[in-house]
Amino acid sequence: MTDAPRTAAQASRRVLLGISGGIAAYKACELARLLVKAGHQVQVAMSEAATRFVGPITLQALSGREVALDSWHPLRASGMDHIDLVREADAFVIAPASADLLARAAAGMADDLLATLLLARDAVPTLLAPAMNRAMWAHPAVQRNAAQLRGDGLRLAGPGSGEQACGEVGDGRMLEPEQLMWEIEALWQPRLLQGRRVLLTAGPTFEAWDEVRGLSNRSSGKMGWALARAAWEAGAEVVLVAGPTALAPAYGVRTLSVESALQMRDAVQAELAHAPFDLFIAAAAVADWRPEARPGKIKKQPDGLPPLPQLRLNPDILAEVAARADAPFCVGFAAEAEHLVAHAQAKRERKGVPLLVGNLGPQTFGREDSSCVLIDAQGVRELPRMGKLDLARRLVAEIAPRLPARA
Ligand code: C5P
Repeated sequence: MTDAPRTAAQASRRVLLGISGGIAAYKACELARLLVKAGHQVQVAMSEAATRFVGPITLQALSGREVALDSWHPLRASGMDHIDLVREADAFVIAPASADLLARAAAGMADDLLATLLLARDAVPTLLAPAMNRAMWAHPAVQRNAAQLRGDGLRLAGPGSGEQACGEVGDGRMLEPEQLMWEIEALWQPRLLQGRRVLLTAGPTFEAWDEVRGLSNRSSGKMGWALARAAWEAGAEVVLVAGPTALAPAYGVRTLSVESALQMRDAVQAELAHAPFDLFIAAAAVADWRPEARPGKIKKQPDGLPPLPQLRLNPDILAEVAARADAPFCVGFAAEAEHLVAHAQAKRERKGVPLLVGNLGPQTFGREDSSCVLIDAQGVRELPRMGKLDLARRLVAEIAPRLPARA
């Protein structure tokens, strides 16, 4: 997951971060740091048990604000922290949410500050990140409480699966702080693609020449990752067919890792054959040609160059999808070096896609920000330079109303 720097366009929000008692409380320190780094204002509230795991002074230093600890020593002059702290917030996050906290919240109890804040939260978007031993999480009582809380309109993020602090392995790990950042920022995004299925290609492709060498390009995959995240935030089920990149796996998204254009084409066609999609976004920088692959490693010639490989044309994945009888709404990308609008307009028609996003390759490849032009049958629209995640959210907002209603 990328930890992209925040740009001016990204909003600063107020987050009330509740921490209940569990070993994962140490990860809440990192979450507080990431929230602050992303430009948000963080107010921490800790349960008494949480303070046994991490010191409030740590959270105070990370958030730059005194930590709320209980209702009897309020931070606000009104003396009503249990109301004021949650009224001031744009989101209320409890990470970790212990089994005990889930039980008290499900029962509607108000026996400490965190539980009371949950009762008083009103319309504030709220996220709980459960964390506990796998047997505790699997216990019918905990599952009953989790189902109750979901039914009450709370969003539960995770838990994840894997090694636990107790040494056991299974479901119950708190999501990683970076994953929680995706969940928290999603709370503020409109669910424009709720119920939609989105297929995406991203990153470069690598075309092997022999078993160690090959052709590729400078695509970092960042724009495709941002689009996958923006589509997921908007409520879509996202499948990402990704060429080789250095990026961490995109959270919440089913990723199929491929290497070559042929593998990318096969993965895309197999997904389309399996179940229909509403939207296909081809953000990958697919290599136009592939060398005739050779087994082993071509030996260096002491007295000259090896015979250059025969190049073959790769299939045009986007054009093939757009030509299908059951084609989803298709969005293509065009990275041009010059005459952006004219080339992108011609490309839109050649590929037979309703919408094409054009940008200047050298000004976008590998960067954290980008600008683009949107080209459809009606004409051309410019979107100014901004962070790739903001740009991806703008693109989702442009695309969503163009999707035909589901049959
Ligand atoms: O033809 P060009 O590579 O400029 O077209 C760019 C658009 O077409 C992008 O959306 C890219 O993902 C897609 N494409 C593709 N398969 C190819 C070449 C490009 O899907 N072989």
